[in-house]
Amino acid sequence: MLNVSGINAFYGKIQVLKNVGLHVEEGSIVTILGANGAGKTTTMKTISGLLKPKEGKIEFLGEDVTGLRPDQLLRKGIALVPEGRQILAGMTVMENLEMGAYHRKDKEIEKDLEMVLARFPILKEREKQLGGTLSGGQQQMLAIARAIMSKPKLLLLDEPSMGLAPLVVADIFNIIKEIRETGTTVLLVEQNARQALKISDFGYVLETGKIVAEGSAADLLTDSRIKEAYLGVKS
Ligand SMILES: Nc1ncnc2c1ncn2[C@@H]1O[C@H](COP(=O)(O)OP(=O)(O)OP(=O)(O)O)[C@@H](O)[C@H]1O
Ligand SMILES: [Mg+2]
Repeated sequence: MLNVSGINAFYGKIQVLKNVGLHVEEGSIVTILGANGAGKTTTMKTISGLLKPKEGKIEFLGEDVTGLRPDQLLRKGIALVPEGRQILAGMTVMENLEMGAYHRKDKEIEKDLEMVLARFPILKEREKQLGGTLSGGQQQMLAIARAIMSKPKLLLLDEPSMGLAPLVVADIFNIIKEIRETGTTVLLVEQNARQALKISDFGYVLETGKIVAEGSAADLLTDSRIKEAYLGVKS
């Protein structure tokens, strides 16, 4: 579904991504692991069109989409839930959800809105409340729900569990599994490496802008180097 190859990306003169390549199969969950500053967010920004790579190619559903803008990629089915959620704090929950569908012209928007509110009852309860008054976990749910309203084929989630209490983290991981079950492919960035790999099919490890390891999630979970560096277990 998504094929990224030979990506070199820069902020000004500083090269952050070095020959990054990755592959996401349709219907799968793929996780990118990496320490702070490894380039995970930059990878997500590049795939969603927020940062144009200097070199490399991004193919989505067989089409070369390198260099397209975020709104063009959203129409093709790539939606990003950015790091730090970035919901519209001064707008109501309902307005945030409607913003997710702003580019759609189909007649299913109302139906999808009902479906999303049924899936996230807490958002239905707080429909008229301003986004900024929600708790961290609720804001994350709103950010994910808003992205679902764009009807993505590929959902990019950048650290969705960051800063959330363990029970809420478990909720978020369950939601990600459900999203995949409804047919949406997921590319996930997580520092909560063990939980992320447990729900994933495949994983990549990014270190200082380079992919240094990749494998099935099951293999990565048992790899002694990965365990030591990312899973908090000495082998
Ligand atoms: N807008 C920017 N301008 C210049 N340098 C940046 C910018 N954003 C990130 N960087 C640098 O690029 C590198 C990769 O950052 P990135 O945010 O992609 O890492 P990350 O893996 O997402 O880290 P974290 O786990 O902290 O979210 C870091 O060295 C960071 O300081
Ligand atoms: Mg990041």
